[in-house]
Amino acid sequence: MHVFIAGATGAVGRSLVPLLVRHGHTVTGTTRSPAKAAELRALGAEAVVVDGLDRAGMIDAVAAAAPDAVVHQMTALGGEIDLRRFARSFAPTDRLRTEGTDHLLEAARRAGVERVVAQSFTGHQDARVGDWLRTEDDPWDPEPPAQLRDAVRAIGHLERAVTGAGGVALRYGGFYGPGSGMAPGAEQWELIRARKMPIVGDGGGVWSFTHVEDAAGSVLAALERWTPGEVYNVVDDDPAPVREWLPEAARIIGARPPRHLPRWVGRLLGEHVVVMMCELRGSSNAKAKARLGWEPLHPSWRDGLAQLARDERAARPVAA
Ligand SMILES: NC(=O)c1ccc[n+]([C@@H]2O[C@H](COP(=O)([O-])OP(=O)(O)OC[C@H]3O[C@@H](n4cnc5c(N)ncnc54)[C@H](OP(=O)(O)O)[C@@H]3O)[C@@H](O)[C@H]2O)c1
Repeated sequence: MHVFIAGATGAVGRSLVPLLVRHGHTVTGTTRSPAKAAELRALGAEAVVVDGLDRAGMIDAVAAAAPDAVVHQMTALGGEIDLRRFARSFAPTDRLRTEGTDHLLEAARRAGVERVVAQSFTGHQDARVGDWLRTEDDPWDPEPPAQLRDAVRAIGHLERAVTGAGGVALRYGGFYGPGSGMAPGAEQWELIRARKMPIVGDGGGVWSFTHVEDAAGSVLAALERWTPGEVYNVVDDDPAPVREWLPEAARIIGARPPRHLPRWVGRLLGEHVVVMMCELRGSSNAKAKARLGWEPLHPSWRDGLAQLARDERAARPVAA
């Protein structure tokens, strides 16, 4: 199969390109940077330099590649997230999830491509009542906190547009692994190491995690076992409340235990902080396992993070 990946140079893309090539597929990947185009070619892909917000450019790029499938992995979350101005940090990604999705779907339709797989997210949109583990069919939060509202709206747009066009949306959990924000040297890992990520309130919010290799594996599964118009949670087997995963992550990273902040202090940063720390729901991966035959290579973030920490120690120069 010839697969066109929009946003092929990110944390997921760098894992996905070689995986598809190993499985005998041909890949065309996009980037906005000529330097990264060379990196894509080194991974075995054809490279196209195009911006996902450039409608005509994307239509031309997909038409020229004439692929069998199109994959949307464009986000702009790689940099630092300003917790107080969460919505502002997410705004470029919201655009890629709305306008970027629309351009890509139009490009796919014009090129006669039926298989479209897009990156979505699970966690922020779930209603904050009832069970702590959610399926794809569970209701969304009718009133997300102000700083999450646009992001939830953009995710909703992406999922409706993609599944409405017969494509598949894959809802990932919090990413960790090489190239993501949760890896040695990256933002979240270093915040935990520096004890700058506190537990707010009872820390009862449940987070689901996804290793970037498993995110890539789910795209392969979705393309090969095609199920049009579906949404899948792609998360590991070990959803855990913040009060459990954050101290364990700190221990694995070799940091001191996280600090605690009362709920009212967290609220000074914004209601969304309290929601993410105390009210978030975890996600079930049962549907992806049953329908796509997908199994996480990293069933638990505990082992996945420990592996990253071991790799970091092994890479450290030995003192003379
Ligand atoms: N999911 C969440 O809610 C969340 C929250 C906080 C942090 N994060 C972090 O966000 C990252 C997400 O991983 P990821 O692989 O999705 O993202 P990523 O590593 O940031 O990669 C994003 C991809 O999108 C492309 N891209 C960005 N803007 C584009 C544009 N205007 N037009 C076309 N392509 C564009 C980039 O390509 P070029 O730059 O090469 O053009 C790149 O290939 C991880 O580091 C994760 O830890 C995620």
